[in-house]
Amino acid sequence: MAGDDPDRLARLADAWDGAALEYERYFVPRFAPWVEAAVQAVAESMPPSGPILVPCCGTFPELPGLVAAHPDREIVGIDLSAGMVRLARERAASWPTVRVVEGDAATLDPQWSSACAGVVSVFGLQQLPDPVVALGEWVAALCPGGRLSVIYWPSVVEEDGPFALLDRVLADHRPPADDSWEGRIGDAVIAAGGTIERDDHPSFRMDHPDAETFWTAMTSGGPLRAMANARGDTFMQARRQEFLELAPSGPWRHQPRARWILARR
Ligand SMILES: C[S@@+](CC[C@H](N)C(=O)[O-])C[C@H]1O[C@@H](n2cnc3c(N)ncnc32)[C@H](O)[C@@H]1O
Repeated sequence: MAGDDPDRLARLADAWDGAALEYERYFVPRFAPWVEAAVQAVAESMPPSGPILVPCCGTFPELPGLVAAHPDREIVGIDLSAGMVRLARERAASWPTVRVVEGDAATLDPQWSSACAGVVSVFGLQQLPDPVVALGEWVAALCPGGRLSVIYWPSVVEEDGPFALLDRVLADHRPPADDSWEGRIGDAVIAAGGTIERDDHPSFRMDHPDAETFWTAMTSGGPLRAMANARGDTFMQARRQEFLELAPSGPWRHQPRARWILARR
């Protein structure tokens, strides 16, 4: 967003650069049900023309579903991380109507204002410093009748499971999450001219071979890579040890809940 700390953005981009390959390998298949839901809802019903924007596209798993439904549309992914953008461009290479922009998706270029038939974003919103402002920008990018489909991880995604255990192990080592914005995003959609069509918590099964594999994926190919970069090996080894001592042994299955906002302008 406007005014975001450039150093914070650079550190976040750097962490996702390093995580990109492992994110694509480990998390993209596991997050696929949420991506498919977000994409299908928009793909089914959109104004007949206008581009589709995909803020925080990462490696761009949203793309195959979007091009399958709208092969002739301009589809534009935006991501902060050069490493993610490189993989996204590889995924997009065979479609001339698709491009990927490296940049901050919290503030959109004015060219998109009231211009887009669709905005789809999965698991990016919760990483932005001011998600309420960003969501308002994304709604304002829609043309009349345009659709927005945003899925993000809320502050609590499960009571029991690997994400819940991570929160427990890290609770004393990072500032408490400020989740006050989550109560304001409905108003942000409306203030930007949108109408909410759906606001619920889709939950799908995820499987991990074991706790150690999950920890390694989160810290090397997931959102904890930024913490690993900042805090170093000794700190991370100690947290890993705590996590593994508290985790169940063997395969680990859980059912985290995301939040899904579907809106029309
Ligand atoms: C968890 S990944 C999700 C990627 C993809 N949408 C998916 O569903 O797999 C989050 C992505 O958000 C990107 N991101 C974080 N902050 C961003 C910002 N301010 N602007 C653009 N992208 C950002 C990261 O670089 C990362 O690629």
